[in-house]
Amino acid sequence: MPLAQMGLREIRGLARQRMPRQAWEHFMGAAESRATFRRNQMALGQILFRQRIFHDVTDPDTSIQLFGRELRTPALIAPIGSFSLIGEAAERQVADGAGRGKTMIFVSHAAKSTVREWAEATSAPIVFMAYLNRGKEDTSRCVRQAESLGYAAVGATMDTVQPVKIGDHVPLSTKDGRPRKGHPACARDIEWLKGEVSLPVVVKGIMGAEDARIAVEAGADALVVSNHGGRILDFNRAAIEALPEVIEAVGKRVPVLLDSGVRSGADIIKAIALGAKAVLVGRPIGWGVGAAGAEGVERVVDILTAEMKRVLVLTGVSGISQVSESILIRNGYHWRQP
Ligand SMILES: Cc1cc2nc3c(=O)[nH]c(=O)nc-3n(C[C@H](O)[C@H](O)[C@H](O)COP(=O)(O)O)c2cc1C
Repeated sequence: MPLAQMGLREIRGLARQRMPRQAWEHFMGAAESRATFRRNQMALGQILFRQRIFHDVTDPDTSIQLFGRELRTPALIAPIGSFSLIGEAAERQVADGAGRGKTMIFVSHAAKSTVREWAEATSAPIVFMAYLNRGKEDTSRCVRQAESLGYAAVGATMDTVQPVKIGDHVPLSTKDGRPRKGHPACARDIEWLKGEVSLPVVVKGIMGAEDARIAVEAGADALVVSNHGGRILDFNRAAIEALPEVIEAVGKRVPVLLDSGVRSGADIIKAIALGAKAVLVGRPIGWGVGAAGAEGVERVVDILTAEMKRVLVLTGVSGISQVSESILIRNGYHWRQP
């Protein structure tokens, strides 16, 4: 089947065939019993839409603005440190695919490419996501370089207070082969990062109102509600379950993004309806690059965006900025009903 006709399921199947087995298992892995991983998708699956047909919406607008950049779609690329397990060219291909897809790419401090190499490989706006366990000196050098190269924002992934687990094992770092260590999350580190650059600072790994408030009070300009795709705490809430209280706590002050378990345009519209500004997509981007390189990444972004348009037409919403909770039903009840 040609790539242009493939859905996400076919792309996933092709990636499974084409990716080295070790890479597939690393990508699909989640902590311990996988309860959080499963819950991410189950919780999204329980939210329903209210169909509307009597309206004149035919070509809804999926574009958004984030960190001053115009994006074609709110389906953004999540930071993944281990694309290189898929192949030597995978990071470059993801960067290229992000540009073709006219989306935004978040790049990980744990990746092999340097801050400059990412910038050279993509026409998409980039957000550099630090891991503070790499030390202040290295982080400072990276974020300052990101600023001088025109990145849209920088930030820190702060949920690796304990290292990522795949099943019962803590994998070695794919960057330098060393054992991974956790790093305490500290509000002062956000203040420090704010002092390093004048770019917006994003904090990723927020799963509740208390942490959201701490991050914003320390100066975070945007948050990512995320349980790291179920790779950190087993029996965590789904990210989509944590989103409403984070929006209530800080949604008027900063843009709130979400990731973990997003597998369709419908999932993205659900997150936006609950207050997210945009959504990051992790493993499906890995499938795209594993199946078909940069074109595969572009295709994944296209599929998600086409699915979003379909949902918007069928719920009678003319664009992403018009999406609200009123289009949702949860467990058969309107979202706001008790
Ligand atoms: C293989 C893999 C590597 C990851 N590496 C990083 C990383 O280096 N930095 C980071 O902030 N998040 C990392 N994440 C988490 C993603 O950014 C994102 O939060 C998660 O994949 C979203 O869930 P999803 O895969 O269900 O879309 C990684 C996830 C996977 C699957």
